[in-house]
Amino acid sequence: MKIAPSLLSCDFSAMGAEIKRMDEAGADWMHLDVMDGHFVPNITFGAPVIKWVRPYTDKPFDVHLMISDPLKYIDDFADAGADIITFHVECDSDIDKTIDKIKSRGILPGLVIKPGTPAEAVFPYLDKLALVLVMTVEPGFGGQSFMADMLPKVGAIKAECARRGLELLIEADGGIGEATIAQAAAAGVDVCVAGTAVFKAADAAKAIALLQRIS
Ligand code: DX5
Ligand code: ZN
Repeated sequence: MKIAPSLLSCDFSAMGAEIKRMDEAGADWMHLDVMDGHFVPNITFGAPVIKWVRPYTDKPFDVHLMISDPLKYIDDFADAGADIITFHVECDSDIDKTIDKIKSRGILPGLVIKPGTPAEAVFPYLDKLALVLVMTVEPGFGGQSFMADMLPKVGAIKAECARRGLELLIEADGGIGEATIAQAAAAGVDVCVAGTAVFKAADAAKAIALLQRIS
């Protein structure tokens, strides 16, 4: 299981140092939550900030776009150094065009589903995707409670991928920590995002190692 610390819970006055801290603590990917205050009721940061912090690690940048019109901004996030771009199937952009644009820039594309969206919503796009991100909280804020009832979607997506001979990664995001990660692992999740559980821990390296061990 890969652990992707969510920078949403970092000290933003020292974002570069926080990324370096997570790199040294053993993070697999860096998860960057981009919010536009429109698709979700919160605003975080955009491509310029990601570009500034990109040199602080060689680990993959997993950019989670919680924005209404991702297609418009793919070039900006590609230029900023994203390795993986996930965007919501509930957004306003054309889904196929957005996936194609991400791929044209040599970036791994992923679709995200909110808690109210069924697994089947991503099925038409599975052939073109590298991963699917299943939200285990309502997107917008860190520190919320894990929704275990989202996990059957992981099984449904994995079963559909197996049926079609596809090898996608499944990522889960929201409320994941030492009390919940075993459930995500049992459901077949490959990559877990963890904000609060890692950034608020006294020792981030211990927290990441514990999550990797129990998953
Ligand atoms: C929520 C974000 C998550 C969030 C996870 O909209 O997508 O990445 O920061 O934070 P925790 O682990 O605290 O739930
Ligand atoms: Zn996220």
